[in-house]
Amino acid sequence: MEKRKIIIDCDPGHDDAVAIMMAGSYEGFEILGITVEAGNQTIEKTGHNTLNLVQYLGINCPVALGKGIPLKRKPMNCAEIHGKTGLDGFTFPELTIDFDKRDAVELLFDLLKANKKVTIVPTGPLTNIAKLLLEHPEVKKNISEIVLMGGSMGHGNVTPAAEFNIVCDPEAADIVFNSGIKVKMLGLDVTRKVLVLPEIIEKMQGISNKVSDLFVALMKFFNKTQKKIFGYDGGPLHDPATIVSLINEDVVKFQYMNVVIDVTGGPSYGRTNCDRFNYLHQKPNAWVATDINVEKYWEEIEKGLRRYSK
Ligand code: RIB
Ligand code: CA
Repeated sequence: MEKRKIIIDCDPGHDDAVAIMMAGSYEGFEILGITVEAGNQTIEKTGHNTLNLVQYLGINCPVALGKGIPLKRKPMNCAEIHGKTGLDGFTFPELTIDFDKRDAVELLFDLLKANKKVTIVPTGPLTNIAKLLLEHPEVKKNISEIVLMGGSMGHGNVTPAAEFNIVCDPEAADIVFNSGIKVKMLGLDVTRKVLVLPEIIEKMQGISNKVSDLFVALMKFFNKTQKKIFGYDGGPLHDPATIVSLINEDVVKFQYMNVVIDVTGGPSYGRTNCDRFNYLHQKPNAWVATDINVEKYWEEIEKGLRRYSK
């Protein structure tokens, strides 16, 4: 079976970490590279976390840093959820690997010149991807789809209107959603249904391999902060939904619709206006996740963690 070529663009981040665990476990993927965004923490910290994860998981691919500065608005981060390091809760072994000498956009450009039918999986703000499309539009033909965690048809999680990844750089999101590339948007409407409840953590603990141990340690921290900030009994495990939807297409349902990113700067700045009922009769431009099979999702997470027991 031909492997799916993927590039992950992330801001680890506890849920980004689980997305990378899932991707690294799956034989059906060829991970061409991982590029890093600021978001959950500063670029220095999300970069360091990404190297730690790639080394710990034994993923052999280049890792390149973005500039960590949104196209227009001022940078934001989410230390209250992900902690001072951006990946609190686990101490990694000493790092022996380093970043690629290219920055994120240069690595993306080189990988997309050399590969066709590439799936890009952003799980953080979209600055790197937007800059790639602005500076090198000629690579669009080699991107088969962009499968991103971000946005919401309903309520936001940073403001009433906006979700974190989109509101961190609305102008970048606007470029991506209007790029003409197939965009699949997995927003809060589905990711808020997959809460990593204590009983799920307990079940994964029984797998007892080095990656399930990492999962358990990170999720215990993640749940503490999610409880404090949102009152959740289990944190919504947002980012892995992208990877899981690629591994098993029965898990997430999508509907093709028009999505407009609010870049007006008002109270709805960074909102993904998803025209699910086609009120405005605009041309659809994204496949938006409308439902998720929660049981199947956790089955895939468990299978992914078990794949590290070999
Ligand atoms: O809103 C959730 C998203 O913001 C996730 O990607 C999480 O990691 C943070 O980046
Ligand atoms: Ca993320």
